[in-house]
Amino acid sequence: MKSLNVNISENNYPIIIESGLILNIGDKIKNIYSGEKISLITDSNVDNFYGESVVASLQNKGFNVKKIVLPPGEKTKSIENLTFLYDELLDFTMSRGDLIIALGGGVIGDLTGFVASTLLRGIPFVQIPTSLLAQIDSSIGGKVAVDLPRGKNLVGSFYHPKAVFIDPQVLKTLEERFLYDGMAEVIKTACIKDKGLFDYLLELNSKEELFDNFEEIIYRCCDIKRKVVEADEKDTGERMILNFGHTIGHAIEKYFDFEKYSHGEAVAIGMYAITKISEEKELTSKGTLEKLKTMLVKYKLPYNAKVDNIEEIFDTIALDKKSSGNFLNLIMIKNIGEVFIEKIDKAYLKEVISI
Ligand SMILES: NC(=O)c1ccc[n+]([C@@H]2O[C@H](COP(=O)([O-])OP(=O)(O)OC[C@H]3O[C@@H](n4cnc5c(N)ncnc54)[C@H](O)[C@@H]3O)[C@@H](O)[C@H]2O)c1
Repeated sequence: MKSLNVNISENNYPIIIESGLILNIGDKIKNIYSGEKISLITDSNVDNFYGESVVASLQNKGFNVKKIVLPPGEKTKSIENLTFLYDELLDFTMSRGDLIIALGGGVIGDLTGFVASTLLRGIPFVQIPTSLLAQIDSSIGGKVAVDLPRGKNLVGSFYHPKAVFIDPQVLKTLEERFLYDGMAEVIKTACIKDKGLFDYLLELNSKEELFDNFEEIIYRCCDIKRKVVEADEKDTGERMILNFGHTIGHAIEKYFDFEKYSHGEAVAIGMYAITKISEEKELTSKGTLEKLKTMLVKYKLPYNAKVDNIEEIFDTIALDKKSSGNFLNLIMIKNIGEVFIEKIDKAYLKEVISI
Protein backbone atom coordinates (compact mmCIF):
# COMPACT_ATOMS: atom_id res chain seq x y z
CA MET A 1 0.00 0.00 0.00
CA LYS A 2 1.21 3.49 -0.84
CA SER A 3 -0.38 6.77 0.05
CA LEU A 4 -0.06 10.46 -0.73
CA ASN A 5 -1.71 13.56 0.59
CA VAL A 6 -2.92 16.37 -1.65
CA ASN A 7 -2.59 19.74 0.11
CA ILE A 8 -4.80 22.38 -1.44
CA SER A 9 -6.34 25.54 -0.05
CA GLU A 10 -9.84 24.33 0.77
CA ASN A 11 -8.97 20.87 2.13
CA ASN A 12 -6.42 18.05 2.15
CA TYR A 13 -7.24 14.61 0.91
CA PRO A 14 -5.55 11.23 0.60
CA ILE A 15 -4.67 9.18 -2.48
CA ILE A 16 -4.46 5.52 -1.50
CA ILE A 17 -2.83 3.10 -3.96
CA GLU A 18 -3.24 -0.57 -3.07
CA SER A 19 -3.55 -3.74 -5.13
CA GLY A 20 -6.83 -5.53 -4.39
CA LEU A 21 -8.28 -2.50 -2.59
CA ILE A 22 -11.53 -2.64 -4.55
CA LEU A 23 -12.54 -5.89 -2.85
CA ASN A 24 -12.77 -4.19 0.54
CA ILE A 25 -13.71 -0.71 -0.55
CA GLY A 26 -16.40 -0.70 2.16
CA ASP A 27 -13.70 -0.54 4.86
CA LYS A 28 -11.90 2.30 3.09
CA ILE A 29 -15.09 4.34 2.73
CA LYS A 30 -16.03 3.67 6.37
CA ASN A 31 -12.73 5.33 7.39
CA ILE A 32 -13.62 8.60 5.72
CA TYR A 33 -17.43 8.76 5.78
CA SER A 34 -19.72 8.40 8.78
CA GLY A 35 -23.04 8.82 6.93
CA GLU A 36 -25.25 6.10 5.50
CA LYS A 37 -26.37 6.99 2.00
CA ILE A 38 -24.11 6.50 -1.04
CA SER A 39 -24.78 7.00 -4.76
CA LEU A 40 -22.35 5.00 -6.88
CA ILE A 41 -21.97 6.17 -10.49
CA THR A 42 -20.26 3.94 -13.04
CA ASP A 43 -20.39 2.82 -16.68
CA SER A 44 -21.60 -0.53 -17.98
CA ASN A 45 -18.13 -1.93 -18.79
CA VAL A 46 -16.82 -1.21 -15.32
CA ASP A 47 -20.11 -2.33 -13.80
CA ASN A 48 -19.77 -5.75 -15.49
CA PHE A 49 -16.45 -6.34 -13.78
CA TYR A 50 -16.72 -4.54 -10.45
CA GLY A 51 -20.24 -3.19 -9.84
CA GLU A 52 -21.54 -6.12 -7.87
CA SER A 53 -18.50 -6.57 -5.61
CA VAL A 54 -18.25 -2.84 -4.86
CA VAL A 55 -21.94 -2.62 -3.93
CA ALA A 56 -21.65 -5.78 -1.79
CA SER A 57 -18.58 -4.46 0.02
CA LEU A 58 -20.35 -1.16 0.77
CA GLN A 59 -23.55 -2.88 1.89
CA ASN A 60 -21.56 -5.18 4.18
CA LYS A 61 -20.47 -2.07 6.03
CA GLY A 62 -24.09 -0.97 6.44
CA PHE A 63 -24.26 1.64 3.67
CA ASN A 64 -27.50 2.28 1.78
CA VAL A 65 -26.32 2.22 -1.85
CA LYS A 66 -27.93 3.33 -5.09
CA LYS A 67 -25.97 2.30 -8.18
CA ILE A 68 -26.39 4.29 -11.39
CA VAL A 69 -24.96 2.79 -14.59
CA LEU A 70 -24.30 4.86 -17.72
CA PRO A 71 -23.14 3.78 -21.19
CA PRO A 72 -19.35 3.81 -21.71
CA GLY A 73 -17.52 6.37 -23.86
CA GLU A 74 -16.93 10.10 -24.26
CA LYS A 75 -20.53 10.75 -25.40
CA THR A 76 -21.65 9.99 -21.84
CA LYS A 77 -20.01 13.23 -20.59
CA SER A 78 -23.04 15.21 -21.77
CA ILE A 79 -25.45 17.82 -20.45
CA GLU A 80 -28.26 15.26 -20.99
CA ASN A 81 -26.59 12.82 -18.60
CA LEU A 82 -25.97 15.63 -16.16
CA THR A 83 -29.71 16.31 -15.82
CA PHE A 84 -30.40 12.56 -15.81
CA LEU A 85 -28.03 12.15 -12.87
CA TYR A 86 -29.49 15.15 -10.99
CA ASP A 87 -32.90 13.49 -11.21
CA GLU A 88 -31.61 10.07 -10.14
CA LEU A 89 -29.80 11.54 -7.15
CA LEU A 90 -32.75 13.67 -6.08
CA ASP A 91 -35.09 10.67 -6.42
CA PHE A 92 -32.78 8.97 -3.90
CA THR A 93 -33.18 12.13 -1.72
CA MET A 94 -29.46 12.77 -1.63
CA SER A 95 -28.47 15.63 0.68
CA ARG A 96 -25.26 17.58 1.22
CA GLY A 97 -24.30 15.22 4.02
CA ASP A 98 -24.35 12.13 1.78
CA LEU A 99 -21.63 10.73 -0.48
CA ILE A 100 -21.25 10.20 -4.23
CA ILE A 101 -18.69 7.73 -5.59
CA ALA A 102 -17.28 7.80 -9.14
CA LEU A 103 -16.24 4.29 -10.19
CA GLY A 104 -14.73 4.32 -13.68
CA GLY A 105 -12.40 6.00 -16.13
CA GLY A 106 -11.95 9.70 -16.79
CA VAL A 107 -15.39 10.04 -18.37
CA ILE A 108 -17.20 8.84 -15.24
CA GLY A 109 -14.79 10.75 -12.95
CA ASP A 110 -15.23 14.07 -14.78
CA LEU A 111 -19.01 13.78 -15.11
CA THR A 112 -19.62 12.54 -11.56
CA GLY A 113 -17.30 15.20 -10.15
CA PHE A 114 -19.20 17.92 -11.97
CA VAL A 115 -22.55 16.55 -10.76
CA ALA A 116 -21.17 16.43 -7.21
CA SER A 117 -19.81 19.97 -7.44
CA THR A 118 -23.10 21.47 -8.61
CA LEU A 119 -26.02 19.48 -7.16
CA LEU A 120 -27.27 21.22 -3.99
CA ARG A 121 -24.18 23.48 -4.32
CA GLY A 122 -21.85 20.59 -3.62
CA ILE A 123 -22.04 17.03 -2.31
CA PRO A 124 -18.84 15.27 -1.15
CA PHE A 125 -17.49 12.73 -3.60
CA VAL A 126 -14.84 10.04 -3.82
CA GLN A 127 -12.93 8.91 -6.89
CA ILE A 128 -12.25 5.22 -7.58
CA PRO A 129 -10.48 5.56 -10.95
CA THR A 130 -10.33 2.34 -12.96
CA SER A 131 -8.50 3.25 -16.20
CA LEU A 132 -4.76 3.98 -16.22
CA LEU A 133 -5.39 7.52 -17.45
CA ALA A 134 -7.83 8.16 -14.63
CA GLN A 135 -5.51 6.62 -12.02
CA ILE A 136 -2.50 8.75 -12.89
CA ASP A 137 -4.12 11.88 -14.25
CA SER A 138 -7.81 12.76 -14.35
CA SER A 139 -8.77 11.72 -10.80
CA ILE A 140 -6.19 14.11 -9.33
CA GLY A 141 -6.32 17.85 -9.61
CA GLY A 142 -9.99 18.67 -9.16
CA LYS A 143 -10.86 19.42 -12.78
CA VAL A 144 -14.40 18.18 -13.41
CA ALA A 145 -16.46 18.82 -16.53
CA VAL A 146 -18.95 17.84 -19.18
CA ASP A 147 -18.71 18.32 -22.95
CA LEU A 148 -20.89 20.48 -25.18
CA PRO A 149 -21.67 19.64 -28.81
CA ARG A 150 -19.18 22.35 -29.84
CA GLY A 151 -16.27 21.07 -27.76
CA LYS A 152 -14.86 19.00 -24.93
CA ASN A 153 -14.84 20.07 -21.27
CA LEU A 154 -16.51 23.40 -21.98
CA VAL A 155 -18.66 23.36 -18.84
CA GLY A 156 -16.83 22.52 -15.67
CA SER A 157 -15.37 23.55 -12.37
CA PHE A 158 -12.62 22.81 -9.88
CA TYR A 159 -13.92 20.43 -7.24
CA HIS A 160 -11.67 18.06 -5.33
CA PRO A 161 -12.74 14.65 -4.05
CA LYS A 162 -12.69 13.65 -0.37
CA ALA A 163 -10.32 10.82 -1.29
CA VAL A 164 -8.96 8.89 -4.28
CA PHE A 165 -8.77 5.10 -3.99
CA ILE A 166 -6.64 3.40 -6.64
CA ASP A 167 -6.50 -0.35 -7.23
CA PRO A 168 -3.86 -1.17 -9.90
CA GLN A 169 -5.29 -4.71 -10.17
CA VAL A 170 -8.37 -3.44 -12.00
CA LEU A 171 -6.15 -2.46 -14.95
CA LYS A 172 -6.01 -6.17 -15.82
CA THR A 173 -9.51 -5.95 -17.32
CA LEU A 174 -8.82 -2.74 -19.26
CA GLU A 175 -8.72 -3.17 -23.05
CA GLU A 176 -5.17 -3.06 -24.37
CA ARG A 177 -5.73 0.12 -26.41
CA PHE A 178 -6.80 2.00 -23.27
CA LEU A 179 -3.83 0.63 -21.37
CA TYR A 180 -1.33 2.01 -23.89
CA ASP A 181 -3.33 5.21 -24.15
CA GLY A 182 -2.71 5.71 -20.43
CA MET A 183 0.95 4.77 -20.89
CA ALA A 184 1.36 7.84 -23.11
CA GLU A 185 0.52 10.03 -20.09
CA VAL A 186 2.85 7.95 -17.88
CA ILE A 187 5.66 8.53 -20.40
CA LYS A 188 4.78 12.24 -20.55
CA THR A 189 5.04 12.45 -16.76
CA ALA A 190 8.44 10.75 -16.80
CA CYS A 191 9.63 13.04 -19.62
CA ILE A 192 8.74 16.23 -17.78
CA LYS A 193 9.73 15.40 -14.21
CA ASP A 194 11.17 11.96 -13.55
CA LYS A 195 14.19 10.57 -15.39
CA GLY A 196 14.29 7.71 -12.88
CA LEU A 197 10.79 6.66 -13.90
CA PHE A 198 11.75 6.92 -17.58
CA ASP A 199 14.72 4.58 -17.08
CA TYR A 200 12.61 2.24 -14.97
CA LEU A 201 9.97 1.99 -17.72
CA LEU A 202 12.64 1.23 -20.30
CA GLU A 203 13.86 -1.70 -18.22
CA LEU A 204 10.51 -3.48 -17.98
CA ASN A 205 10.44 -6.31 -20.44
CA SER A 206 6.89 -7.59 -20.60
CA LYS A 207 3.30 -6.70 -19.89
CA GLU A 208 3.52 -8.95 -16.81
CA GLU A 209 6.46 -6.93 -15.49
CA LEU A 210 4.57 -3.73 -16.18
CA PHE A 211 1.62 -5.00 -14.14
CA ASP A 212 3.93 -6.16 -11.33
CA ASN A 213 5.27 -2.62 -11.11
CA PHE A 214 2.09 -0.61 -11.53
CA GLU A 215 1.75 0.30 -7.86
CA GLU A 216 5.13 2.07 -7.97
CA ILE A 217 4.54 3.62 -11.43
CA ILE A 218 1.12 4.98 -10.45
CA TYR A 219 2.50 6.29 -7.16
CA ARG A 220 5.28 8.23 -8.91
CA CYS A 221 2.91 9.73 -11.48
CA CYS A 222 0.36 10.72 -8.83
CA ASP A 223 3.09 12.29 -6.72
CA ILE A 224 4.21 14.47 -9.64
CA LYS A 225 0.67 15.47 -10.58
CA ARG A 226 -0.08 16.22 -6.90
CA LYS A 227 2.94 18.54 -6.63
CA VAL A 228 2.11 20.38 -9.85
CA VAL A 229 -1.54 20.80 -8.78
CA GLU A 230 -0.53 22.04 -5.33
CA ALA A 231 1.70 24.67 -6.94
CA ASP A 232 -1.00 25.83 -9.36
CA GLU A 233 -4.40 24.75 -8.15
CA LYS A 234 -6.47 26.71 -10.65
CA ASP A 235 -4.31 26.08 -13.72
CA THR A 236 -2.98 29.59 -14.26
CA GLY A 237 0.74 28.87 -14.70
CA GLU A 238 2.97 25.94 -13.74
CA ARG A 239 0.25 23.35 -14.43
CA MET A 240 0.82 24.10 -18.11
CA ILE A 241 3.85 21.76 -18.02
CA LEU A 242 1.46 18.80 -17.88
CA ASN A 243 0.60 19.68 -21.47
CA PHE A 244 3.90 18.42 -22.91
CA GLY A 245 2.98 16.94 -26.30
CA HIS A 246 -0.62 18.12 -26.00
CA THR A 247 -0.61 21.25 -28.19
CA ILE A 248 0.44 19.34 -31.31
CA GLY A 249 -1.41 16.25 -29.99
CA HIS A 250 -4.75 18.07 -29.86
CA ALA A 251 -4.19 19.37 -33.39
CA ILE A 252 -3.52 15.81 -34.60
CA GLU A 253 -6.67 14.50 -32.89
CA LYS A 254 -8.71 17.25 -34.55
CA TYR A 255 -7.06 16.82 -37.98
CA PHE A 256 -8.13 13.18 -38.01
CA ASP A 257 -11.63 14.02 -36.66
CA PHE A 258 -10.91 12.30 -33.33
CA GLU A 259 -11.11 8.98 -35.15
CA LYS A 260 -7.72 7.77 -36.30
CA TYR A 261 -5.70 8.42 -33.16
CA SER A 262 -6.68 8.05 -29.51
CA HIS A 263 -5.78 10.92 -27.17
CA GLY A 264 -2.71 9.06 -25.88
CA GLU A 265 -1.49 8.22 -29.38
CA ALA A 266 -1.89 11.84 -30.47
CA VAL A 267 0.03 13.02 -27.39
CA ALA A 268 2.80 10.54 -28.25
CA ILE A 269 3.06 12.01 -31.76
CA GLY A 270 2.94 15.51 -30.23
CA MET A 271 5.77 14.80 -27.77
CA TYR A 272 7.95 13.48 -30.58
CA ALA A 273 7.17 16.38 -32.95
CA ILE A 274 7.92 19.08 -30.39
CA THR A 275 11.11 17.36 -29.23
CA LYS A 276 12.27 17.10 -32.84
CA ILE A 277 11.93 20.89 -33.09
CA SER A 278 13.57 21.61 -29.74
CA GLU A 279 16.48 19.26 -30.43
CA GLU A 280 17.06 20.86 -33.84
CA LYS A 281 16.97 24.27 -32.14
CA GLU A 282 19.55 22.95 -29.62
CA LEU A 283 17.22 23.60 -26.72
CA THR A 284 17.17 19.88 -26.00
CA SER A 285 20.27 17.77 -25.48
CA LYS A 286 21.23 15.60 -28.43
CA GLY A 287 19.95 12.04 -28.25
CA THR A 288 16.78 12.86 -26.27
CA LEU A 289 14.56 12.42 -29.32
CA GLU A 290 15.99 8.95 -29.95
CA LYS A 291 15.37 7.94 -26.32
CA LEU A 292 11.80 9.15 -26.60
CA LYS A 293 11.29 7.19 -29.81
CA THR A 294 12.61 4.00 -28.20
CA MET A 295 10.17 4.46 -25.32
CA LEU A 296 7.14 5.16 -27.53
CA VAL A 297 7.83 2.14 -29.73
CA LYS A 298 8.27 -0.04 -26.63
CA TYR A 299 4.81 0.91 -25.39
CA LYS A 300 3.15 0.43 -28.78
CA LEU A 301 2.65 4.14 -29.35
CA PRO A 302 3.14 5.98 -32.66
CA TYR A 303 5.69 8.76 -33.01
CA ASN A 304 4.68 10.13 -36.41
CA ALA A 305 1.63 10.41 -38.62
CA LYS A 306 0.94 10.90 -42.29
CA VAL A 307 -0.34 14.45 -42.52
CA ASP A 308 -0.98 15.82 -46.02
CA ASN A 309 -1.94 19.32 -44.97
CA ILE A 310 0.48 20.50 -42.30
CA GLU A 311 -0.97 24.02 -42.65
CA GLU A 312 -4.20 22.78 -41.08
CA ILE A 313 -2.28 21.40 -38.09
CA PHE A 314 -0.47 24.71 -37.70
CA ASP A 315 -3.75 26.67 -37.87
CA THR A 316 -5.18 24.65 -34.97
CA ILE A 317 -1.97 25.08 -32.97
CA ALA A 318 -2.05 28.83 -33.54
CA LEU A 319 -5.44 28.95 -31.79
CA ASP A 320 -4.19 27.05 -28.74
CA LYS A 321 -5.01 28.57 -25.35
CA LYS A 322 -1.27 28.99 -24.68
CA SER A 323 -1.05 31.36 -27.62
CA SER A 324 -0.58 35.11 -27.18
CA GLY A 325 -0.20 37.43 -30.18
CA ASN A 326 2.57 36.25 -32.49
CA PHE A 327 3.93 33.89 -29.89
CA LEU A 328 3.03 30.54 -28.47
CA ASN A 329 4.12 29.08 -25.12
CA LEU A 330 5.27 25.58 -25.86
CA ILE A 331 6.24 22.91 -23.34
CA MET A 332 9.61 21.33 -24.09
CA ILE A 333 12.16 19.17 -22.35
CA LYS A 334 15.84 20.04 -21.96
CA ASN A 335 16.67 16.45 -21.06
CA ILE A 336 14.48 13.56 -19.98
CA GLY A 337 12.90 14.73 -16.71
CA GLU A 338 13.66 18.44 -17.19
CA VAL A 339 10.73 20.41 -18.50
CA PHE A 340 10.66 24.10 -19.47
CA ILE A 341 8.31 26.53 -21.20
CA GLU A 342 9.58 28.21 -24.36
CA LYS A 343 8.02 31.20 -26.07
CA ILE A 344 8.11 30.39 -29.79
CA ASP A 345 7.42 32.75 -32.67
CA LYS A 346 4.46 31.36 -34.62
CA ALA A 347 6.12 32.18 -37.96
CA TYR A 348 9.17 30.15 -36.94
CA LEU A 349 7.00 27.24 -35.82
CA LYS A 350 5.13 27.28 -39.13
CA GLU A 351 8.46 26.93 -40.93
CA VAL A 352 9.86 24.05 -38.91
CA ILE A 353 6.87 21.95 -37.91
CA SER A 354 6.72 18.47 -39.36
CA ILE A 355 4.83 15.48 -38.06
N1 LIG B 1 -10.08 15.93 -15.17
C1 LIG B 1 -8.90 15.90 -15.71
O1 LIG B 1 -7.94 16.51 -15.22
C2 LIG B 1 -8.70 15.08 -16.95
C3 LIG B 1 -7.40 14.80 -17.41
C4 LIG B 1 -7.24 13.99 -18.52
C5 LIG B 1 -8.37 13.47 -19.17
N2 LIG B 1 -9.61 13.76 -18.70
C6 LIG B 1 -10.81 13.21 -19.34
O2 LIG B 1 -10.77 11.80 -19.19
C7 LIG B 1 -11.57 11.21 -20.20
C8 LIG B 1 -10.84 10.02 -20.74
O3 LIG B 1 -10.67 9.08 -19.71
P1 LIG B 1 -10.43 7.53 -19.98
O4 LIG B 1 -9.36 7.37 -20.98
O5 LIG B 1 -10.32 6.85 -18.67
O6 LIG B 1 -11.77 7.11 -20.76
P2 LIG B 1 -13.06 6.31 -20.31
O7 LIG B 1 -13.58 6.76 -19.01
O8 LIG B 1 -13.96 6.32 -21.48
O9 LIG B 1 -12.49 4.82 -20.10
C9 LIG B 1 -11.95 4.14 -21.19
C10 LIG B 1 -12.69 2.82 -21.43
O10 LIG B 1 -12.25 1.86 -20.50
C11 LIG B 1 -13.35 1.26 -19.82
N3 LIG B 1 -12.85 0.93 -18.49
C12 LIG B 1 -12.44 1.79 -17.53
N4 LIG B 1 -11.89 1.11 -16.53
C13 LIG B 1 -11.95 -0.20 -16.85
C14 LIG B 1 -11.52 -1.39 -16.22
N5 LIG B 1 -10.85 -1.39 -15.08
N6 LIG B 1 -11.76 -2.58 -16.83
C15 LIG B 1 -12.41 -2.61 -18.05
N7 LIG B 1 -12.81 -1.52 -18.71
C16 LIG B 1 -12.58 -0.32 -18.11
C17 LIG B 1 -14.45 2.28 -19.90
O11 LIG B 1 -15.71 1.68 -19.80
C18 LIG B 1 -14.20 2.89 -21.28
O12 LIG B 1 -14.78 2.07 -22.26
C19 LIG B 1 -11.82 12.30 -21.22
O13 LIG B 1 -13.17 12.71 -21.14
C20 LIG B 1 -10.90 13.43 -20.81
O14 LIG B 1 -11.41 14.70 -21.12
C21 LIG B 1 -9.79 14.55 -17.61
